[in-house]
Amino acid sequence: MIDFDPQANATSSLTGIRSAGNNIYHGLTGSVSYDQLIRFSDILNYHYIPSSSDLSGALVELVSMSGREYYLRNFIHNLRQQYDYILIDLPPSLSLLTLNGLIAADEVIIPVQAEYYSLEGLSELLQTVDLLRERMHHPLRVAGAVVTLYDKRERLARDVAKNLRTHFPYRVFDVEIPRAVSLAEAPGFGKPILIYDPNSIGANAYRRLAEEVIALEGGLKDEL
Ligand SMILES: Nc1ncnc2c1ncn2[C@@H]1O[C@H](COP(=O)(O)OP(=O)(O)OP(=O)(O)O)[C@@H](O)[C@H]1O
Ligand SMILES: [Mg+2]
Repeated sequence: MIDFDPQANATSSLTGIRSAGNNIYHGLTGSVSYDQLIRFSDILNYHYIPSSSDLSGALVELVSMSGREYYLRNFIHNLRQQYDYILIDLPPSLSLLTLNGLIAADEVIIPVQAEYYSLEGLSELLQTVDLLRERMHHPLRVAGAVVTLYDKRERLARDVAKNLRTHFPYRVFDVEIPRAVSLAEAPGFGKPILIYDPNSIGANAYRRLAEEVIALEGGLKDEL
């Protein structure tokens, strides 16, 4: 997992600390190689590269560089063969960092909160995906959208999910990630949900999501 959000929430919710020392920013600038950045988590075979607020400085530095959208892609290049999956956590708003993330990626999974404004942000993101494909010739696939913070007792949540399933031009994953106390608590303990509360409904939902994602890979092999 590469934390590519300067807020570093993925790092701190995995480890309980925001991180000290080298992080993805130093990888981007080329001052440290990836093998010095990779850290082990408490989950077997789940390695990560931390982020830090340094990364927002990278934005400013990169703006004037040629090939500024390709820094993360180049960084990942030598890493790709070593892992089955590389997850890149991106900041919520569109920026040069997000572009770097999308260009480094083969496919994108889009979490959609079951709230009205989520659908607006979604069309903006899909426009960006189209722009990357057409103007930058980057064949980014949309693996799918996943409904999250879902409370089936709320009418709005049900409407948003239904709307998405009807109109979204790509796959919407079957599983809905429920709004769940254990998922809200886990980051505060610096533990991933699979360790914090492995049998909770939140953990089960994320496990099902992982199964759906892994199943897609089988589908892709069939297509090839
Ligand atoms: N399904 C859920 N149920 C309850 N709380 C949740 C759920 N998902 C996330 N949260 C809470 O919301 C916080 C933010 O979640 P998360 O980091 O996944 O969102 P994000 O959209 O990536 O945030 P950001 O935009 O800051 O990167 C989490 O720390 C957690 O406490
Ligand atoms: Mg985030």
